[in-house]
Amino acid sequence: MSSQRVLRIGLVGLGRIGKKHGQTLAWETRHCQLVAACSPIESEQDYAINELGLDSYYDNYQKLLNDKKVEAVVLATPTNLHAEQTIMALQSGKHVFVEKPLALNLQDCLRVEAVAKNHPQLVAMVGFVRRFDPSYREAKLMIEQGQIGSPYLIRSQTCDLYDPTGFFVNFAPTSGGIFMDCSVHDIDLARWLMGVNRARRVFATGLTAIHHELMHYKDVDNGIAVIEFEGDGLGNEARAVITASRTWQIGHETSSEVIGTGGKLLIGAGAARDRVEIGDGSGIRKLAVSDFHQRFDQAFKIEIQAFVDACLGLAPLSLSIEDATEATRIGLAITQSLHSGEPVSL
Ligand SMILES: NC(=O)c1ccc[n+]([C@@H]2O[C@H](COP(=O)([O-])OP(=O)(O)OC[C@H]3O[C@@H](n4cnc5c(N)ncnc54)[C@H](O)[C@@H]3O)[C@@H](O)[C@H]2O)c1
Repeated sequence: MSSQRVLRIGLVGLGRIGKKHGQTLAWETRHCQLVAACSPIESEQDYAINELGLDSYYDNYQKLLNDKKVEAVVLATPTNLHAEQTIMALQSGKHVFVEKPLALNLQDCLRVEAVAKNHPQLVAMVGFVRRFDPSYREAKLMIEQGQIGSPYLIRSQTCDLYDPTGFFVNFAPTSGGIFMDCSVHDIDLARWLMGVNRARRVFATGLTAIHHELMHYKDVDNGIAVIEFEGDGLGNEARAVITASRTWQIGHETSSEVIGTGGKLLIGAGAARDRVEIGDGSGIRKLAVSDFHQRFDQAFKIEIQAFVDACLGLAPLSLSIEDATEATRIGLAITQSLHSGEPVSL
């Protein structure tokens, strides 16, 4: 039997992604024990008790932070709460994993950075799950090995299978809009895969193909952005073209194409769910991935394991709070460009 110490975790938020993290923490992560959960919604208490088998359940975040057995928290709460709740966790002496994006304004990101710097013994990690997806990791390795030469362009998209209930319209007031909610993943991928840091200029446009009511929140259901990254001063430049859609009719289709001076990589193209192909009177086809849960199932598990291992000092983290700040900085500029119709310099 392993003598490895076990990390005791409290989960905050039991909505769409919170339930997913709850299952991963309770049943699928080594060296950790899910010991408590928190949500102000009563019906989610049943889930915590009956499905996750928890004894400690709180309707208030501060109460969970006061629980001395909790050493680390996983925050799966609405985006507008992330920064403050991350700061509260660190100031209570707890490691923290927070869902993306870190915040909807730069000041909040910088506040989190400052508090994290004052608590260097604690892990603070933002959930850029795609960095943990086996296919994206393989692509990163191939780029590092020089297999496509020097990468200079990425085309990356996050396209959600259209949900006619339009749930994302209710989500709009707290999500920060389509670019902060969806494209922040592609922005992070662009920085990570091409090894670039800051952006110099962005331009964005978008439209409401189906849900015109999104205009009330200055949001769109389809958007395109171009990012010009800062060069290295030696003539090497990089650009990104990012697409996001809430109205994709095929399935959930996240894919990226990285183009380099010696070749290119295509990651996740198509939305095939598995290796089964059906042939009938309508033709030959494959079933499609329905949502991000299915597409990134494995990545969510690897991501949470990376957090636990970092908290226990078993392995270093490959992403930082500063990475999350840069993703927010670029996402905000893109959103500003969408609203103004003008390019935005950073
Ligand atoms: N990594 C990804 O691919 C991914 C996917 C989906 C969502 N997310 C992120 O996860 C976050 C949550 O999204 P969701 O879709 O699960 O939202 P959701 O609305 O389904 O769930 C939010 C949860 O937070 C709880 N909550 C609200 N206020 C709270 C408070 N003050 N204290 C404690 N709990 C509180 C709610 O009760 C609910 O359980 C968002 O920031 C979103 O961007 C990330």
